[in-house]
Amino acid sequence: MQLLKDRILKDGRAVNEDILRVDTFINHQVDPYLMRECAKDFAEHFKESGVTKIATIESSGIAPALLTAVEMELPLVFFKKQPSKVLNDDLYQTMVTSFTKGTNYELTLSRKVIDSSDHVLIIDDFLANGEAATGAIRLVRMAHATVAGLGVLIEKSFQPGRSKLTEAGIETYSLARIASMSEGKINFLED
Ligand code: G4P
Repeated sequence: MQLLKDRILKDGRAVNEDILRVDTFINHQVDPYLMRECAKDFAEHFKESGVTKIATIESSGIAPALLTAVEMELPLVFFKKQPSKVLNDDLYQTMVTSFTKGTNYELTLSRKVIDSSDHVLIIDDFLANGEAATGAIRLVRMAHATVAGLGVLIEKSFQPGRSKLTEAGIETYSLARIASMSEGKINFLED
């Protein structure tokens, strides 16, 4: 999506070969108008997929996921991160390891909000190693629902997330795909 790529070039900052800072329009301050355009693109792409709910992972996924839910006129569920195991029969939980941040957390979903009648579109801000996305998919499946696909704003294509998801049979749609980065320089994959 050209609008997002232009914004990444203008306001994003490649800190090194691995990390892109987008704090001024996605991760800290959010540009709702850009998120709305991204949401329209996700909604158009997945309009024939029979989606019943949008899901994301707190916190930075919520803005694009909420606007996608508005566009598609569907409910939004956000999976919560809990620092330690909270045993509760009303919850589905799965452990996620973040390589970028060096943390583990329990991704958590109430049994009340997704069920076997749901076909869920997962939306997130970044796809890096794919650990958060595969954790979200595990939770959807624990709830006996099915996954319609994954929509991400920014895919770091030099990391293994997309290939993990493709191997798992998940349709992944990314609005900006980064082939490589170095300090101050960002190269996109050609569409
Ligand atoms: P994965 O989810 O694809 O496996 O990636 P990983 O575990 O490595 O990433 C964990 C967290 O780091 C995620 O945020 C992800 O969005 C973020 N992240 C990964 N690569 C980058 C990057 O290059 N730039 C930025 N800004 N973030 C990156 P999170 O922990 O879920 O945090 P948040 O949603 O609360 O912001």
